[in-house]
Parts: sequence; C-alpha cells; structure tokens
Amino acid sequence: MSQGRARLGVLVSGSGSNLQALLDACAREDFPAEVACVVSNVPSAFALERARKAGVRAEVVDHKAFGAKADFEGALREVLRDARVEWVCLAGFMRLLSADFLAHFPGRVLNIHPSLLPSFPGLHAPKQALERGVKVAGCTVHYVDAGTDSGPIIAQAAVPVLPDDDEKALAARILVEEHQLYPLAVRLAVTGKVSQDGARTRVDAQATTGTLALRSPGMPR
Ligand code: GAR
Repeated sequence: MSQGRARLGVLVSGSGSNLQALLDACAREDFPAEVACVVSNVPSAFALERARKAGVRAEVVDHKAFGAKADFEGALREVLRDARVEWVCLAGFMRLLSADFLAHFPGRVLNIHPSLLPSFPGLHAPKQALERGVKVAGCTVHYVDAGTDSGPIIAQAAVPVLPDDDEKALAARILVEEHQLYPLAVRLAVTGKVSQDGARTRVDAQATTGTLALRSPGMPR
C-alpha cells in the first residue's frame, strides 16, 4: 500500500457516469484516492473519453479478442499491474470476474449496482424492481465476490418508486444517487473505515455520522 492516495483502477463498459463521479471526487484535494487507470472491455465505451479528458490513462481490453476468460482477465491484470493499481472499482462493468482474478486484489474490488441488494442482482435491476412492484428502489456499493452482485454490502441509498415510473425514469433517478454513493463508499473503503466481516461489513460509526451507511432522500449530503 502506498503512503499517498489509494490508486484506483476503474473498470467500465459503457457511458461511465459513475466513473465521472469518481474522477470528480478524486479531483478534490482532500479525497483519499486517485484514478490510476480506466479499462474498458468495450472499445466504443464513452467512459474512455471521460478518462482521456481527465488526463487519466485509458485502455481497452476487449473480451471478444480472447478465447478463454482466464486470458482476458490476465490481460486486464497486466494493465492494472502496470498502472500500480491497489483498488479495483467496477463502474458499469458488465463482465463477471473470476475468483482467481479477485484473489489478486483480496478485499479490494468494489462494485456499484442499481438496486437495494440482495434484491434484483444481475441485469436490468430497475426493470426487475418495477416488475416486482416495489415502492422503494435504490443502489448498493459492495465488495465483489465470485457471485453475481452478492458480496458484502458497504453502503446503500434509497430511491422512491413513483407511480408513473418507467425503467428509464427510475434508472435515471437511481443514477443520481449512485453518483453520490460511490465516492462516499470508496472513501470509507480506502481509509479503512469499513472492513469485511464474513458476509457482512463493519462500518466505523464515526465515519458515517450525518452521511451514510444508508443514504435516503432528504438526508444531508
Ligand atoms: C449503473 O447504473 C450501474 O449501477 C450499472 O450500470 C450503470 C452504468 O452506468 N451497473 C450494473 O448494472 C452492474 N450490475 P454508467 O456507465 O453511466 O456508470
């Protein structure tokens, strides 16, 4: 672990609005992390533009170019190692990572997911929430394990489901909260204010006063 700011490798597949939230947070002097590199498995991902605009190393590791998953992950690891990445943040990264990959970053891989886990893991979480008729949706930042969106939960934010919501409207309202939640959770994780405790996490009560572990509309930011 370096003495300075924690070095993040952000993995993306798409628009990268959560990457942008992390880049913006890292631009603040008091934020305890920096984005060392951004890696996309999708060559056309807009997230790559965001990284370049912020002056951050941006690389493509296209999963389609590899026959075996282990080779794809090996190439991914090579980039992360070269950029001296300490923490891996998944930000709309739409591939599952193997236990073997995760073992190279023990307890240091985070993900953001657009539901209140353990409800609605996997694809199209806001659509799943609407179809199930829940009245409160939200987002979750969690440690990544080898399952699908199943690792220990670090922080969550709640978002009301409104009567006229369609998938797009609900997903957009959740995304606003994601952009607040991910930097907060990264700060907790890299400063050791949250740690894994079996299937759960332990969060330093002092660190969360007034802000999270559960953020909900109307709570102070
Ligand atoms: C976000 O809503 C993120 O939570 C979700 O994809 C979107 C990416 O948006 N991730 C997943 O569903 C992973 N299971 P972004 O590219 O604008 O950050």
